[in-house]
Amino acid sequence: MVQQKRPPGPRNLPIIGCFPQMSTNPLQFLTNAAREYGNVVNLGSIGPQQLYLIADPDCVKYVLQENPQNYTKGENFQDIKLVIGEGLVISEGDSWRYQRRLMQPSFHRQQIAAMVDDMTQLTAQMIERWQKIPSGATLDVSEQMLDLTQKILLKTTLSIDGDSNTSELIQAWNTIYKFLSDRLWAVIKLPISFPTPENRQFQQAINTLRTVANRIIQERKQGNHPAHDILSMFMNTQDESGGGLSDQQLHDQIVGLFSAGFETSAATLSWIWYLLSKYPTVERQLQAELVTVLAGRTPTFEDLPHLKYTKMVVQEAMRLYPGAWIYARNNLNDDVIGGYHIPAGSMLLLSPFVTHRLPTFWDNPEGFDPERFTPERSVGRPRYAYFPFGGGQRQCLGDIFALTEIQLIVAMVCQRFRLNLVPEHPVERQPLLTLQTSQGILMTLEPRPEIDNVSQLNTQKSLLTVNSESC
Ligand code: HEM
Repeated sequence: MVQQKRPPGPRNLPIIGCFPQMSTNPLQFLTNAAREYGNVVNLGSIGPQQLYLIADPDCVKYVLQENPQNYTKGENFQDIKLVIGEGLVISEGDSWRYQRRLMQPSFHRQQIAAMVDDMTQLTAQMIERWQKIPSGATLDVSEQMLDLTQKILLKTTLSIDGDSNTSELIQAWNTIYKFLSDRLWAVIKLPISFPTPENRQFQQAINTLRTVANRIIQERKQGNHPAHDILSMFMNTQDESGGGLSDQQLHDQIVGLFSAGFETSAATLSWIWYLLSKYPTVERQLQAELVTVLAGRTPTFEDLPHLKYTKMVVQEAMRLYPGAWIYARNNLNDDVIGGYHIPAGSMLLLSPFVTHRLPTFWDNPEGFDPERFTPERSVGRPRYAYFPFGGGQRQCLGDIFALTEIQLIVAMVCQRFRLNLVPEHPVERQPLLTLQTSQGILMTLEPRPEIDNVSQLNTQKSLLTVNSESC
């Protein structure tokens, strides 16, 4: 057998490897590493764990799509496993295949179409609340988007709309998310069984989440609350032999959707408001499309294919700020990626943030340019130059849900408001479990006059041009 070479990479310290640079500024460190060392970067080892960054689209494709049987998520999810058990998000092998087959139909396009009314109603309620906010007052759009996407997920998965169950669930989840995020870059990780106040709070939050999720499942089984939602679809789904998801699996799926289904969408939306406030020309073009296609009415599922520019704005925001900015795989057997030898048991980091900014595939990679997603400008771009939802057999199950929700929210909010970034507020990227900002995104709301045709918009446009040029 030909001896394969090892990939190049930065010099690292013994034992702690690249951890100091990586934990100080992971986005910059990994982006620089890919630009300097290429397709596959040897990041050295942190303790016994050998790390590689897989940056090149064809190499990402190989891991996610061409040889996925050699790559598991397993080792990287021990903490989150305590929360979501053996649910779809982290299960492997036959158990994953079985659950995915049963759950997939609940996320088909026509099922998502049936959830659009819930999405638009909850967005309209948020807009109504915003309309009561005094002019010039600031609000943190990250908090607002989190609240909205949580409400949408609770409504569509569990038919919950704002009762005591909601606050218990949300508080428990927020405690869990903060704990896991803090732990992500912690230098010393005490075992979770160690009785520190944080560990105890974390365990309590897991218990609350379990209790509430089990209560909801049992109530549903007793037929007390018939509903048409994702939980009911999961409960009714059957395999060829008539078997379905067990109570434990139902529980793990529901909690798993919590881990996957709103932080990412909320982060994406927050970044969209930030980008639109920074790029008024893009915002004007978006506004023109909304007026032309919707003429002031609430968008429907059928409108979405016609809101092409809106979709490109979402795609481009997810290129620059992918909610799931990094994820990892372990290889079961030795492998060769991009011509380099990767020994079994390594950890491979795949980062949409890094690949989405590689100058080989993206002109002016740091610029916000939605039209790079037009069909003409997408020609020749490798499939995995862009993978905000992952790919291959483990591609995000909620991608249509998320894109629908985000497109609707962007359209509805833009119809009513322009969101202006508070000038002195620092917006710093914070790569936690999802790509957040360190201090939220403070913005002021500028109500828009109701515009339902393009000539009214043109009058507005000239005003907007003056405003944007003067700031
Ligand atoms: C902007 C929003 C979202 C982004 C960026 C995103 C991204 C991702 C990515 C990258 C993966 C694959 C991770 C890997 O391969 O290790 C994934 C998996 C998953 N996502 Fe999403 N997601 C989003 C929204 C959602 C929503 C709204 C739901 C559900 C309502 C959801 C449910 C899932 C599930 C269940 C999986 C696991 C699929 C499997 O392993 O078979 N996601 N997501």
